[in-house]
Amino acid sequence: MQNKWNRVATCAFMWVLAGAAEAAPHSGAPPKSASPAQTPATAPTPPMGWNSWNHFAGKIDDATVRAQADAMVSSGLAAAGYRYINIDDTWEGTRGPDGAIRPNSKFPDMKALADYVHAKGLKLGIYSSPGAKTCANFEGSLGHEEQDAKTYAGWGIDYLKYDLCSLGPSMQQAGGLEKAQAIELAAYLKMGQALKATGRPIVYSLCQYGFYQPWRWGRSVGGVAWRTTGDITDKYPRMIQIAQMQAGLSKFQTPGAWNDPDMLEVGNGGMSPIEYRTHMSLWAILAAPLLAGNDLSKMTPETLAILGNRGVIAIDQDPMGKQGDRLRQEGPLEVWTRPLAGGAHAVGLFNLSDLPANMTFTASDVGAKAPVALHDVWADKDLGKRKTYSAVVPAHGVLLLRVG
Ligand code: GLA
Repeated sequence: MQNKWNRVATCAFMWVLAGAAEAAPHSGAPPKSASPAQTPATAPTPPMGWNSWNHFAGKIDDATVRAQADAMVSSGLAAAGYRYINIDDTWEGTRGPDGAIRPNSKFPDMKALADYVHAKGLKLGIYSSPGAKTCANFEGSLGHEEQDAKTYAGWGIDYLKYDLCSLGPSMQQAGGLEKAQAIELAAYLKMGQALKATGRPIVYSLCQYGFYQPWRWGRSVGGVAWRTTGDITDKYPRMIQIAQMQAGLSKFQTPGAWNDPDMLEVGNGGMSPIEYRTHMSLWAILAAPLLAGNDLSKMTPETLAILGNRGVIAIDQDPMGKQGDRLRQEGPLEVWTRPLAGGAHAVGLFNLSDLPANMTFTASDVGAKAPVALHDVWADKDLGKRKTYSAVVPAHGVLLLRVG
């Protein structure tokens, strides 16, 4: 099914593009805005759920998706707010004589799978590309946008990740930045309108690696989340690199639409528990979608405790819906804050260095002059009212505070 060489070529191309996008993501004139498609209330807080790609990649199938849905409920993560079970790339088969997309043999009956997931109180997500081919060289939606949106709605799909993939080369060949941007916006608007026309509330998640500042236009094409960078990997340096590329984006964010620094790697084994707590803390402060990327059916208690931490989830899902940002930085020591409902704040003291460091919170970090009530979120411990609080933060670790 999957042509390895095409996949490699596509990936290599995407990395070149992603590198270009990541090199200068925050400057320049905003791309021309598209006419509004929709601003659905499909995600009043950042979407929470699971996605198949980070752990299973091409090895995802119907039975595995059902097992993840089962584990989402039995682990307690569903009760903690995780809702979407999202099938990423490699589910696609051929098109029928009428042009309708059919799943491949790994997914014998998509409607039955959606029914199964829905019966558990969960929602089902799917994946496609505005190009002719997806990143793994499966069938994309080019020329079939309305038909595919209708098919998804008919199956009972609740979430679409729409991944640029093979549309990238034609954008590059368009001759110039403006034309390339116009192609990208038109392609994403087309599917945004097609989803809207189905009448089914479907979370529309754009995946275009941060090209052309989607935080400036993602909402205008109907998006409720958009990727801001290239792909995450299960390695601390890449996770931190992605997080740091979010600095300065909070001013573009409005409640109900979310910058997406990519899916979680918690539990996949490439980072330490300390580093995974840093990963979760950053994503919560960033009001990022929380899409677990591990095998939920084989979680250690520690992984479950990190993904399921109620205090961290409450920060991510704060009803005010305002993304946080970096407040100050002293070399590898960074303080990030997020305003929360009711005048509270989340404050993360992040130690990016390779040695433990003493770090200090001061009330002025949240604009206060008087002592403020502090709660250590990961330790779930009240620290009393204080004007300052110092602690040793482990290498690559975080002290995450809920303030006020
Ligand atoms: C791209 C995306 C990933 C994943 C793969 C699937 O690389 O950024 O998140 O969806 O494609 O092929």
